[in-house]
Amino acid sequence: MGMIQEFKEFAMKGNVVDLAVGVIMGAAFAPIVSTLVDNIIMPPIGYLMAGVDFSNLAVTLPTPEGDGVAIKYGVFLNALIKFLITADDVIHSWWVPALGWKRDAIPGFINEAWTEVMEPGVYRGQCAELCGKDHGFMPIVLVAKTEEDYQAWVEEQKGAAAAEAASATRTWTMDELMAKGESVYQANCLACHQAGGEGLPAAGFPALKGGKIATGPVAGHLDIVLNGSKQNPAMAAFGQQLSDVDLAAVITYERNAFGNDTGDMVQPADIAAAR
Ligand code: HEC
Repeated sequence: MGMIQEFKEFAMKGNVVDLAVGVIMGAAFAPIVSTLVDNIIMPPIGYLMAGVDFSNLAVTLPTPEGDGVAIKYGVFLNALIKFLITADDVIHSWWVPALGWKRDAIPGFINEAWTEVMEPGVYRGQCAELCGKDHGFMPIVLVAKTEEDYQAWVEEQKGAAAAEAASATRTWTMDELMAKGESVYQANCLACHQAGGEGLPAAGFPALKGGKIATGPVAGHLDIVLNGSKQNPAMAAFGQQLSDVDLAAVITYERNAFGNDTGDMVQPADIAAAR
């Protein structure tokens, strides 16, 4: 089973609001870096969710002298793995019980910890920082592979990244956008806006069927989906979470499903231009 799929199934066990938070968490944890002498393993989930290009398997850290330090990363079972932990939004606490420790992830600070992973497998944890009610479910999924399996996984990701890059530059047909958009909608939007686009007005989730923005000017629709709502944080910014293709498809879908029938098509290139 694919890791993203597995992550989504795990995240689905939370309630609908937590699910959105769980997915956002991936981006929040993206700066977690683990080092092993001159090589580095990076828990890949944050990077996957943040949509990093896997064809470039090195990270360059800025140094005070200005020269970057290039770091290679891979997975090393039975090796000591050092983690450098930080956050880029609020304080988190990185906790995978099987690793044996819990460390705060604090913006502007770097905390350290190390572990030895003896067995390949999926190690689960969650953010252990006690925050508001909307932060109650931030799952962590750490996948440890043998070096051989890891290399195969890297190749697979490179292939997927290349296919994604190719699909982001071509012009899609309406049928393609609608089919893709439906699946993106079901995975990311349906929980609040509902299958028929009717929303859950009593819970504050507006209808997209006949929606002011969903059937209004395309620019406004792009803005709320990419950047989120300024009035209500429940409508999150999806710009960092979804690819150009996914965003183009889901916006096209919302503008033409549920009887909206605007006839508008949004292409991946339109998303790239709006970013
Ligand atoms: C956690 C619940 C939630 C999820 C998930 C969610 N939304 Fe929303 N959405 C909202 C809320 C709340 C608003 C109202 C925002 C406001 O009042 O400014 C909204 C508003 C909107 C609007 C404007 C509605 C209109 O026409 O007036 C659009 C378009 C929209 N969302 C698209 C999406 C898309 C696309 C996704 C999935 C990629 C998505 N939303 C996922 C909660 C959600």
